[in-house]
Amino acid sequence: MAALAKKRPARHRTRATPSSSSSSDVEAAKRVVSDLRDACATPATTLDAVAAAMVGEMDAGLAAEGGSSKVKMIVTFVDALPNGGEEGSFYALDLGGTNFRVLRVRLAGGGGVAERVAREVPIPHRLMSGDDATSENLFDFIASALAEFVADEEGRDGDGGDGERMRELGFTFSFPVRQTSIASGKLIRWTKAFAVDDAVGEDVVAALQAAMSKHGLHNMRVSALINDTVGTLATGSYYDDDTVAAVILGTGTNAAYIESTNAIAKLSSPPAELGNSSNTMVINTEWGGFDSPFLPTTEYDQALDAESLNPGEQTYEKLISGLYLGDIVRRVLLKISTKSSLLGGGDTDLLTTRFVLTTPDVSSMHHDETPDLAIVADKLAEKLNIRGTSLETRRMVVEICDIVATRSARLAAAGIVGILRKIGRGGAGDERRSVVAVDGGLFEHYAKFRQCMESTLEEMLGEEAAARMFIKLANDGSGLGAALVAAAYSQS
Ligand code: GLC
Repeated sequence: MAALAKKRPARHRTRATPSSSSSSDVEAAKRVVSDLRDACATPATTLDAVAAAMVGEMDAGLAAEGGSSKVKMIVTFVDALPNGGEEGSFYALDLGGTNFRVLRVRLAGGGGVAERVAREVPIPHRLMSGDDATSENLFDFIASALAEFVADEEGRDGDGGDGERMRELGFTFSFPVRQTSIASGKLIRWTKAFAVDDAVGEDVVAALQAAMSKHGLHNMRVSALINDTVGTLATGSYYDDDTVAAVILGTGTNAAYIESTNAIAKLSSPPAELGNSSNTMVINTEWGGFDSPFLPTTEYDQALDAESLNPGEQTYEKLISGLYLGDIVRRVLLKISTKSSLLGGGDTDLLTTRFVLTTPDVSSMHHDETPDLAIVADKLAEKLNIRGTSLETRRMVVEICDIVATRSARLAAAGIVGILRKIGRGGAGDERRSVVAVDGGLFEHYAKFRQCMESTLEEMLGEEAAARMFIKLANDGSGLGAALVAAAYSQS
């Protein structure tokens, strides 16, 4: 057996078939997995401490501008959510992940959505980061896709084709923005896979509006600039009045909720625009930036962070969201490949390639119910060129996916509990129904993630309180929400 273990593939060859392995190989791999399990553990006490720390950061963020360097608690200027009475055709633009979407929505006033037309456009990677990634190039690309869409919708959007009517657009821009009014705001910094340096500090609506003019969209104005969490909250509350918060669990993660204005000390001299009667204000927490010594982190998270576009930032997001989970699993597999030949030994070309394993891959492997874990075998072969693994090794891979996804789901649940505590919801004796609207592919498509998050919420809140808490998928909440907020703030 020892002799077999030494038979590593020559460097120029493709990955060897790991047909057999020594018991020390298996032991070494098992140690990596058990260390991972220990480091990712999220017992109830940890989750409770995370929720409490989240509340602490939220309080600090509301107390003063920059009060929390982690959780920004952005005042969104959304003080009135759509109430169902809105009417007319509204456009929306949703930028935040690897695709952006343009939508046209017709609201008929009865609380529903009478018509919805959407188009999804992939953003070329070169516009997201790197030398070509300038503000002008990015907004030009977006405005040109928007112009095409509007031209196709011409005549169907209530304009009559004469170009006379001012069209209104809601812009979902899912990055931290220092909002200066309902329809203006400056980018604080990029997150996720974007790094367009010259846009930082810029008013993103002005940049979009300039690009729109260039593409002939003169009769269209941006009526609302919102975060995707705010769009999801608007969509959630459009359909259910008891919606108190919204969470995105997708490429990134974030939450928004309805706060009472007197709890926002940094609003002590409210800007004129805030002469609202509702006495509430939607806060975009930007919780992805949350960090705490209670967060269970590993060497893999540290390496991922160090090699990311934003080292030292978005710690909570990097433990939870879809952009990162696949890459955490890849890093664990890489470690195993350096300690044992279970994954084929020396040739680690693909295993060292960042983001080659995605969260949807992790989800497929995690849900593999075939008796021989054929889906795991296929994913390892297709994505990492690892072939001929034993069933035991494939089981280990599933366990790694489980550990990483479970930590993510449990930490997300702790964040939600933090928000509920912050607004005094979900406690013993609170009889009110509370709805949290959720959007994002991680929540929508990763069933084990979703189940784990929901059962953790029940574990944290207790069965009785959890029975009054509803986590509702607000499908396309972020895009639709932009149109809804544009309607609520319509200037025509
Ligand atoms: C990142 C962004 C945040 C957004 C979230 C989900 O955390 O900073 O604004 O809401 O991703 O898309």
